[in-house]
This record gives sequence, C-alpha cells and structure tokens, in this order.
Amino acid sequence: MSDVVLQAIGLRKSYTQGQSRLEVLKGVDFKVNAGERVAVVGRSGSGKSTLLHVLAGLDDADEGTVLVGEEDLSAATPAERAKIRNASMGFVYQFHHLLPEFSALENVVMPLRLGGVRVTVAEKQARELLVAVGMEQRLAHRPSALSGGERQRVAVARALIGEPLVVLADEPTGNLDWENAEQVFELMCRLNEERGVSFVIVTHDKTTLDGMHRVLELNDGAIR
Ligand SMILES: Nc1ncnc2c1ncn2[C@@H]1O[C@H](COP(=O)(O)OP(=O)(O)O)[C@@H](O)[C@H]1O
Ligand SMILES: [Mg+2]
Repeated sequence: MSDVVLQAIGLRKSYTQGQSRLEVLKGVDFKVNAGERVAVVGRSGSGKSTLLHVLAGLDDADEGTVLVGEEDLSAATPAERAKIRNASMGFVYQFHHLLPEFSALENVVMPLRLGGVRVTVAEKQARELLVAVGMEQRLAHRPSALSGGERQRVAVARALIGEPLVVLADEPTGNLDWENAEQVFELMCRLNEERGVSFVIVTHDKTTLDGMHRVLELNDGAIR
C-alpha cells in the first residue's frame, strides 16, 4: 500500500524584514506514505520549523500546495483547515505545550472534547493511549508534576488521540537528555508500527536517524 498521507508540491516561502527578503523555502517537494516515519534534518535556520508550520496549515506558503490525504490544505478556508487539522493531523513540539491547569488525562482528552466527542468516549480513548505510552500511573498528574520525558510522552498521546493520518513533530526530543530522548523516539517508532500512523520528525539528533524509514535534508531551501 502506498497511500500518500501528506504531500508538499513546490512550496515556496519567504520573509520580508525591512528592505531585505529572506527566501526560506525555494521549492520543497516530497511525499509521505501511509505508515512511514520520515526525519527532516538541516542546520539551524534552514527552515525546518517554517516547513512544518506550512505543512500544518498554520502558516501560508507564498506558492505551492499541501495535500493532507486527498484534501488540499493550501486551498482550504480557515474553518476547513481547522477541520482537516483536527481530523487528520497530530502535533508534538519541542516544549510540550500541555495546559498547566489540567491533568495528563484531561490534556489528552481535550482535542476530542473540542471536537464534540462525548466525555465517556473521549476518556476511554485517552486512557488507552496513556497506557500505550506508559503513563497509566500518572493520569491525574499535572504537567508540573511530571518529568520532561513524561511530559513528552503525554504530548505524544495527545497528538495521537484523534487517530490522525500523520503526526508532525518539531524537535520533540530537543529539550530532553539522551536517555529520555531515546525513549521518546522508541515510543514514536513503536506507535508508528502498531498504529500505522505516519510521523514526520524534525530532529537534530543523529543517533535517532537509524530508526527512520527515510531522512530528508533541507538544504538551501529545498529537500536534497
Ligand atoms: N516570522 C519570521 N519572520 C522573519 N524571519 C523568520 C520568521 N520565522 C523564521 N524566520 C527566519 O527563517 C529562517 C528559517 O527559520 P526556521 O524555520 O525557524 O529554521 P529551523 O527550524 O530550521 O531552525 C531563519 O533564518 C529565521 O530567522
Ligand atoms: Mg526550528
């Protein structure tokens, strides 16, 4: 099966600052297949975060197309984009972005609740995912009572809650020591294999690249 879950076609993006124009993406093309885990690497400032923001529909490209499954994210209205994002994409960030006032369980439940899913159904799925990421003993903990690695495991569970086609992760282990980084990477690999959800992972961490199906390098605004 080679269903494409995410496709970038001719993405261009520049920033204007005062008089100068910085071309960050100069025609980025790639596909991510169902069940694939793909790393995106590149030096700091090469445009990895910009690319992920455009792929997520959080930022507009100047030119080009982003397809999520069969849907054209780049041509969608803001409301349609939000719907596509909610239904088909999950996100993990370098800093966990968990809501501090809420427990691990509530944080994972939140995306489903916002999507109108009944609380009993949402909690059942969230519990199941928190068990899958090894956090069953921490359901009631707030983020401040969790270690860095534990927070990222909760963030991974939250990214998977809506059964997305693809998870986009921007340096998800960038804030962790190597041992925790390795654990979070192994977790993402295992969930990729068990659930078939694709992952696009921006990383600096060379030791984790072995576990990826493909490594894409962003260099001078394009994938080489
Ligand atoms: N909102 C912005 N306005 C102007 N320049 C930006 C903006 N966001 C990023 N940049 C610039 O674009 C380049 C790529 O940034 P980024 O995508 O964050 O790179 P990476 O994630 O690979 O480190 C950098 O030179 C950065 O300074
Ligand atoms: Mg970045």
